[in-house]
Order: sequence, then C-alpha cells, then structure tokens
Amino acid sequence: MPVKTPKTLDKLVVSKLLERLKDEYDAMYFYTAVANWCQGQGYEAIAKFFKKEAENEHDHARKIEKYITDWNVFFELPAIEQPSKEYRGLIDVIEQAYDLEYALYEAYEETSKEMFSLDLCVFDFLTPLRLGQNESVIEYSDMLNELQTIAADVNSFALYYWQQEKFK
Ligand SMILES: [Fe+2]
Repeated sequence: MPVKTPKTLDKLVVSKLLERLKDEYDAMYFYTAVANWCQGQGYEAIAKFFKKEAENEHDHARKIEKYITDWNVFFELPAIEQPSKEYRGLIDVIEQAYDLEYALYEAYEETSKEMFSLDLCVFDFLTPLRLGQNESVIEYSDMLNELQTIAADVNSFALYYWQQEKFK
C-alpha cells in the first residue's frame, strides 16, 4: 500500500519565508562584522553586545528554517550578503544598525500582510518575529536619541562613557 504524502507549503509562501531567512542571515553577518570592528577599536562592551545580536539573528533564522522544514520543504540556503566594511565610528555603527533593523521591520510588515490572506498560520508564526523586530527598531531608535543628546557636547570621552554605561 502506498503511504500518503503529507501536504506542504504554497510555493509563494516558501519564497517569502526564504527572503526573510536571507534577511536574518544578512543581519547575523552584519552584527558579526560590526562586533569584530568594535573589538578592534577597543569598544569591548559594545563588541560583546553585537556578538549577542548576531546570535539572536541566527536564532531567528533557525526558527524560519524549522517552520519551512516542518512543512516538508527542503530548500537551498540563501547566499549571505557581504556586510559593510566601512565604519566611520561608533555613531555610524549604530546608525547602520538602525537602518538594517528598520528595513527588516518593513520587510516583516510586508510579508505579514501578504501572509494574512495566503496562510494564517504563517502570519501567526511571523507575529513574534515582527514584534521582536519592532523592539529592535525601538532599541536602536532610543540609542540614536541618546546619541543626539550627547552629540550636542560630543567628545571621545562622552562617547566612551556612553558605550560603557549602555552595554555594561
Ligand atoms: Fe532578526
């Protein structure tokens, strides 16, 4: 007797999830590069913070992989973008992180809207990722606000003190 083949995900759903998977790996690579740069600059505390960010992005990627795999889809892993190698300083790093998180936030919003009509369970699956993305945008937005305050009286000591306090 032939055994029944279980159902799988819609192709469009898979392609959208793979786009978000690529975003998560790109983010993981970006934070890894940033952590290395910070380490080299002597920003020890913030380097540790960005290494944790890279791990978080990897966790998000794994969640998406598990969801697709659980639905019997075997897929090719996305190629990861080379992250920026140009950092003009700590403020630039935070600005780049904010831009990345905001772009991911918009991408999760867009995919979630599509999934709402295509596949409600995928929409539900994306909800914690979307809310986490919202938290990340707020976190970096707060940092930019604090840095704007410091920038009125910016000197390297103020910046050093800020990162020591923020990331201890
Ligand atoms: Fe993420």
